Amino acid sequence: MKHRLHFFAFLTLVILFHTTTWGQEPISNEPLPKVHIIATGGTIAGTSTDIGYDAGKVSIETILQAVPELTHYAELDYEQFCNIGSQDMSESIWLPLAKRVNQVLESGKYDAVLITHGTDTMEETAFFLNLTIHSPKPVILVGAMRPSDAVDADGPANLLKAVQTIVKPDAVGKDVMCCLGGKVYEAGAAFKNDTHSLDPIAETSVDWYLPHNANTGFFVDNLKELPEVGIVYGYGSSSTVAFEALVNAGYKGIVFAGVGDGNLNQATLDLAAKAVKSGVMIVRSSRITYGGVYTEGGEVDDEKLGFIASGSLNPQKSRILLMLALTATRDIDVIRSYFRQGVFTQVVELPGVSNARQLGGYIIGDKKVRMDFTFAKRKPFQCLLLFRKAVPLFGIRMIRTSFGVTESRHRSHLNDIITLDSLF
Ligand code: SIN
Repeated sequence: MKHRLHFFAFLTLVILFHTTTWGQEPISNEPLPKVHIIATGGTIAGTSTDIGYDAGKVSIETILQAVPELTHYAELDYEQFCNIGSQDMSESIWLPLAKRVNQVLESGKYDAVLITHGTDTMEETAFFLNLTIHSPKPVILVGAMRPSDAVDADGPANLLKAVQTIVKPDAVGKDVMCCLGGKVYEAGAAFKNDTHSLDPIAETSVDWYLPHNANTGFFVDNLKELPEVGIVYGYGSSSTVAFEALVNAGYKGIVFAGVGDGNLNQATLDLAAKAVKSGVMIVRSSRITYGGVYTEGGEVDDEKLGFIASGSLNPQKSRILLMLALTATRDIDVIRSYFRQGVFTQVVELPGVSNARQLGGYIIGDKKVRMDFTFAKRKPFQCLLLFRKAVPLFGIRMIRTSFGVTESRHRSHLNDIITLDSLF
């Protein structure tokens, strides 16, 4: 009998131990990573109404109280930046938000930033931040499709997944991430493709992968506003009224969400060509999700008409890139290179080498670097000679050079670009 009692006491202890530690990582003495949470609203902060719900109602404090497990993975603090539905997200919030994220990460006090955000425009904010954050530390946006007071709210699980993701060492040096449906996506590829699913994000293939770090993107510290760029949606024999209205309103750029391969009907094409002559930048993107828009192999002569092809960027991401590009330059060749190759903070004019520009590249971790250079209007062998001249200027050890990327018919135009893989 005594033995049986001992056995039951032991069993109870085992069960208790398992109950209290269930779902936790093994306890370690290491200090937990520090994560700063910036709350902006969305359905994750929504509350139910008679007809559905209102986004951006509940404070971040209340949201976090529903997920006590978060504190097993990170030391958290938080701020309520705004509390809105993400359809109201605008550059007047993006600019201070990017400045705030840079400030938090540069302070040295935090290992990562998590932003709560509505799902409707999450891909836009993520892409904007990816181009304006100058730290390789992880930044993740997290949202939900059900309001915070739903019985089966998805916000808590998404929050947990987001925190578990950004505290891992391999989260450093990635794109800004989006976490929804228990999955994690990178800003360049992510887009919302379902209005109701709990797993509403999908990915497209991207021309360039450019994780945020000190050398990528645009500096927004001194910017108070962004140039106005609008989107016009194309359809069979589209009316030109919306396009004309943006031109007349003084928009600096227009992204046309064209049919198929970014096509415009004749009336819109004529109007767009006229707009270019009056200084408006025109980007041809597509209302089609996959495949991208490229000059080569298409119906529109972008070079002749002065248009920019969006490459793999959808209209809403093209708009963001064009707005930021116009804060840095009005040189159409440079802007085209941003769309093809991504953006380094400095477009480097190599001393003594005319027409050479560092276009973009990849940074993997903080060591391995790929740089792409283009030498306008030169033949490949001339490029190679110029390139050899350029390498010592950067103090880089050359490992491999190759001419361009030729994996698809649309990308054969990159043949005039020389790629350098190197180790610093
Ligand atoms: C929003 O984007 O703010 C509302 C919709 C959502 O978060 O799913």
